Amino acid sequence: MYKIFKKEVLAPTIILFEIQAPLVAKKAKAGQFVILRIHDEGERVPLTIADFDRNKGSITCVFQEVGKTTRELGCLREGDSIKDFVGPLGLPSHIEKYGRVVCVGGGVGVAPVHPIARALKEAGNEVTGIVGARTKELLFWEDQMRAACTELRVTTDDGSYVRKGFVTDLLKEAIEEKGDISLCIAIGPLPMMRAVCDLTRVYNLKTIVSLNSIMVDGTGMCGSCRVTVGGEVKFACVDGPEFDGHQVDFAEMARRAVIYKAQEQLALEKYTGKIAHGCSCGNGGGR
Ligand SMILES: Cc1cc2nc3c(=O)[nH]c(=O)nc-3n(C[C@H](O)[C@H](O)[C@H](O)COP(=O)(O)OP(=O)(O)OC[C@H]3O[C@@H](n4cnc5c(N)ncnc54)[C@H](O)[C@@H]3O)c2cc1C
Ligand code: FES
Repeated sequence: MYKIFKKEVLAPTIILFEIQAPLVAKKAKAGQFVILRIHDEGERVPLTIADFDRNKGSITCVFQEVGKTTRELGCLREGDSIKDFVGPLGLPSHIEKYGRVVCVGGGVGVAPVHPIARALKEAGNEVTGIVGARTKELLFWEDQMRAACTELRVTTDDGSYVRKGFVTDLLKEAIEEKGDISLCIAIGPLPMMRAVCDLTRVYNLKTIVSLNSIMVDGTGMCGSCRVTVGGEVKFACVDGPEFDGHQVDFAEMARRAVIYKAQEQLALEKYTGKIAHGCSCGNGGGR
């Protein structure tokens, strides 16, 4: 069992867990993920390693409540335990001294981009961080990102904080201002990563994205996380999750992301029906 050391509601529907997992923490690197299962009947859910503390033996994950399992997870409290916690999975981010880099995090993608930005800065890069959220209350980790980057630029879709616009608006400005950016890392919702790639392609700026395709085993055996990159079939769990964004077939990814929509909806309806009759989590699941 894996104990939840710390729980923090970062924003409505966005929750941070620090989980006791010393063996995972010992080997974790930026860019990798874990697959957890809350209990014996639970489904397997992949979450990115947002931080790790080797001395404490802990892994930090930040997740958004989007469906049945993430809502159930959000009902757990400090001191509760998770049944399975497998990792670190996937290939770590490639970290080297590139010179000037931009790290873009959209929505809950701010959490996974954070350790990558930090590692790139530690490797001697000048890191421009760009973070964005739909609205002010959904923005989190501004201070952590400011510390992880050389400079940070912030935007909200509705203009409720700092300035109005999308992360792509800030990215375009940064590219045109700085001129010699060597690499862009973008993590966030699929449409955001696609929009970033459409922009950086124009500037011939190499862009790495982290793909959150549907995963089951996380070890390259089931094929559910299949993506097409540069015309070749890849498995995001073992060949990724990071890929050259200019080579990713985003249209196929978008189609595959919704293939279980009806089942996911049914699972959520059954679950919310159940909790309406007696959930005792008491925290509102961060909602
Ligand atoms: C490598 C990787 C890292 C991820 N890291 C994070 C993270 O750090 N924080 C975060 O909030 N989310 C992350 N996700 C997405 C997260 O796994 C899904 O939101 C979660 O599985 C949804 O489960 P659910 O039962 O709550 O929702 P459901 O209603 O089952 O699904 C909602 C949506 O989530 C996606 N999804 C569902 N099941 C899976 C699955 N097994 N694998 C991947 N996606 C799925 C689908 O697009 C689906 O439409 C990551 C996904 C991957 C593949
Ligand atoms: S999750 Fe099964 S092959 Fe990747």
